Amino acid sequence: MERTLSLIKPDAVGRQQIGAVINVLEQGGLRLVGAKLLRLSRAQAEGFYAVHRERPFFGALCTFMCSGPIVALVLEGPNAIQRNRELMGPTDPAKAPAGTLRQLFGTSIERNAVHGSDGPDTARTEIAYFFSASELNGLA
Ligand code: CMP
Repeated sequence: MERTLSLIKPDAVGRQQIGAVINVLEQGGLRLVGAKLLRLSRAQAEGFYAVHRERPFFGALCTFMCSGPIVALVLEGPNAIQRNRELMGPTDPAKAPAGTLRQLFGTSIERNAVHGSDGPDTARTEIAYFFSASELNGLA
């Protein structure tokens, strides 16, 4: 059993696709053990994407990520990290297979609807960025 972090980005939240995204994740075999709707400050977005600080798209990415509310989800299941990545599809929606979240809901490499942790260490760090232990499993 594994946990991963998923973010539904401002583009998908703005288009009222929260339920549709969660439906794909749940039907794909992942269980929600944490969820919150929030709006990132600039500092929070920059902290979350700190690994990309030197990339040319960093500033635009952070501007986009604080442009409206996002939904942070903690997903649980067997191989949850890899499973979530399969359900999302690749970063660029133009290259995403039919039925993946980014193909269904993404419109550009920046406005790609969802984020998902890319490995066990990242998942642990990213979950802790948004959730305390007492906010998971409906315990809060
Ligand atoms: P995400 O999985 O949230 O991780 C970093 C994000 O940077 C990525 O999805 C994209 O939305 C965004 N991004 C914007 N431009 C690029 C780019 N040229 N290459 C990769 N990621 C990009």
